[in-house]
This record gives sequence, C-alpha cells and structure tokens, in this order.
Amino acid sequence: MFTFNKQDFGDFTFGAATAAYQIEGGQTEGQGMSIWDSFAATGRNVAGQETGEIACDHYNRWPEDLDLLKEAGFDAYRFSFAWPRILPQGTGAINQAGLDFYDRLIDGMLERNLKPFATLYHWDLPSTLQDKGGWLNRDIANWLADYAELVYQKFGDRLAKIATINEPWCVSFLSHYLGVHAPGYRDLRATARAMHHVLLAHGTTIERLRSLGAKDLGIVLNLEFAKGATESDEDKAAADLWDSIYNKWFLGGVFKQNYPQNVMDVLEPYMPDNYQDDMPTIGTKLDWLGINYYTRSHMKHDASVPNFQISSVPGPLEKTDLGWEIYPQGLTELLKRVAKDYTDLPLYVTENGLADAELYDDQLRVKYYDQHYKAALQAKQEGVDLRGYFAWSLLDNYEWAEGYDKRFGMVHVDYETQKRTPKSSYRAFQKLLKD
Ligand code: NOJ
Repeated sequence: MFTFNKQDFGDFTFGAATAAYQIEGGQTEGQGMSIWDSFAATGRNVAGQETGEIACDHYNRWPEDLDLLKEAGFDAYRFSFAWPRILPQGTGAINQAGLDFYDRLIDGMLERNLKPFATLYHWDLPSTLQDKGGWLNRDIANWLADYAELVYQKFGDRLAKIATINEPWCVSFLSHYLGVHAPGYRDLRATARAMHHVLLAHGTTIERLRSLGAKDLGIVLNLEFAKGATESDEDKAAADLWDSIYNKWFLGGVFKQNYPQNVMDVLEPYMPDNYQDDMPTIGTKLDWLGINYYTRSHMKHDASVPNFQISSVPGPLEKTDLGWEIYPQGLTELLKRVAKDYTDLPLYVTENGLADAELYDDQLRVKYYDQHYKAALQAKQEGVDLRGYFAWSLLDNYEWAEGYDKRFGMVHVDYETQKRTPKSSYRAFQKLLKD
C-alpha cells in the first residue's frame, strides 16, 4: 500500500498512461504502415523480433481497459493517436475506421469521467513520410501540423489536453544517433536535423492549433537526472554534456529559444541552414508541460567514444529490469529546476514507472510509485506548480526495442489469452483513489 494520501496533493489529476503502438494492435482496418512496423520486422532491432501487430488488442478491448481505469479511481487517461491509423499515407486520404475508433474511445473516456490527455505523436511515424526523409525533412513540420489540425477538428472539443510530441529526445537522439529506436540511424547529420526538426514540428503544430482557437496545448519531455561518475571535473563535464543532450536541448529550445553550446560543439556543422530563424516558432508559448521521469545516469569522460566522448557507468542504487537506477530524488530536483530555470507553466508528470518481471504481486512497483509520488509531492510543497501525475503504464505492453518481455503495467496482460489481471500496484492505486 502507498504511504501517502490523495488529500496531500489537493486539487490534482491522478492518471495512467499508454501509447497507441504499444497497446492497440488491430492492424487490420485500413491503416498504413509505420516506421515501427518495418523496424521491428528487421533483423535484430527488437528482442524476439516482436512487433505491435497484436500488442494488447486494445483496439478491440478498449472498453475493458477504460473500465480498469475507472474502477481504480483514476481521473484521467493519457493515450496517443496513431497517425497511420488516421492518415494511412501520413497526409491526404483519411481512414474513416481509424477516426471512428478514436471517436468511440474518447466518448468511452468521457462516459467514465476520465479526462482525455491526448498525445499526437508517440513514435509511430507513417512509413510513407519516412520514405520522404521522415524527421530529416523539414516538411515534417507541416505534415505534423496538418495531421494535428484534422485531429483537433474531429476531437478537439472533447480533449482535456493535447501534447504535440512524446519524448523528442527519443524521436531524435535515440533514433538517429544511437540507432536504438526506429528508424535506427547512426548519423550525425541525421541527428542534428532530427533534433531540430522535432522541435520545429512541435512549434509549428502549436502555432497551427492556436490559430484554430485550441487551448491546453503542451509537449511531453523526458528528463533524466545526470551525475558525474566521480567528482572529477572531467566527469562533471561529462554529466553536464549528457544533461545538455537529454534535457537542456529540449528545455532550452522550447523555453529559451536556444541550444546548449556543448552539444553544438559537435552538431553545429550538421545543422540545417539558418536554423536560428526557427527559434521563435520553437519557443511559441505553451499552456502546460509534461515531464516523463524514470532514472538517473552516471556519466564519465571517455576519450575512446567518438563525437561526444562520454559513456555511462552503473549507479550504486537498486535497478529496475532495464538496469535503470531507482532515484526518486531526481524527480524532485528536476521538477524544481524546470520551475526555477525554465517556466512557470503548470507541470504534469506524464510518465513514471518501472519494468519489473514480477507478474502479480509487484511490491517493487508499489514501492517505486510510493517513493516517486512523495518526491513529486515534495517539489509541489516547495512551490512547483505540479497539477497531476500519470503512471506508466496501465497495462503491460510493447516496450519498443525490448519487445513484450519487459513489463511496465499495473495490470498484467497474458499475451496468449489477452486476459488482464490487476497487480498489487493496481490495488494500491485503487485503495488510494477510491477509499
Ligand atoms: C517512455 C515512453 O514514452 C514509453 O513509450 C515507454 O514505454 C516508457 N518510457 C518506458 O520505457
């Protein structure tokens, strides 16, 4: 059970999160291919070569999943729209079955008093747009804005909040420099372009939605706490560089219209021409900011690593099944830092959680949420305007390059039968929110 009370948070949104590709499946109804479909089907990109083809079959089982949210007492549900389900070719022709699905889903949330927190882009880029260069092509700003406009026109009046993009660091650096996520590039020029265009697409989309009268617009950034592996100046600089690649690039772009110099030292020659001219669009005003937080990294200077010359070492604290160190204080620190150095906008923790193999009695997950909720509360009590918190994730689901083996859910999914079984962490939320 949790050791904090709902009341401690005052007027606060308690939610859970998922993303389309990770849970929906239902790939039979006219939607287009995404970069994750082909990336997952290729070689050894994903553990077990698993794909999102069936996933949790949420496409058919969504009423049951929304019931689970309601029965736990959550106020809100963070979900994403699958771009290729709505626009199979990325632009142009609409797949009506896709719109109908989200129509039912959103009405289902409202019927259950769940506030819909929507994300427009959670990584499933239509393959036809990848064929045109994907995030390397500056036109992606308008592709995203056009798709966003359609979604807004159909559903905008029923959504509580809209986020443009989930985790631009993953969309750009993880996918175009580290090559871990689709499209799996390892190329500096691709990286520089993706890191800029992802923010340009965000800003362009916000401007477009604003021009249509939209409110409650934001973005979801993943922030990681970075620490030097030792106290040496070299290792501190390594942590600082990682902090810049991970956090400052995106926070600085969106809230200060600038990029950190230590990253530019490497990327500048590869940046799009006149990228500076885009900074006002990138910095266009938002209404809220979502922060995904999971872990802390320990970084050291490493001359053997090309380009950035840094590498990570395991930290001293307990790790999750993905080897991520459990460090709740990092959440307090990052929330305070964002509020102090970047913005006074309302903040939401839009994701937090852990991978754990325990199928049903997931006491480590209960402890993890307990510690992180308290860490968030501390930031709130110290003056951060924190309005809500979403657990990742409602269900066990497709953990991208890790496949289905790594389980993040508060509800167990048996992928053979698609049976959902609440774990202890789900019961802990239910007790907190319903009693
Ligand atoms: C961040 C991503 O938004 C989500 O898709 C992923 O499953 C979790 N973190 C866990 O890695």
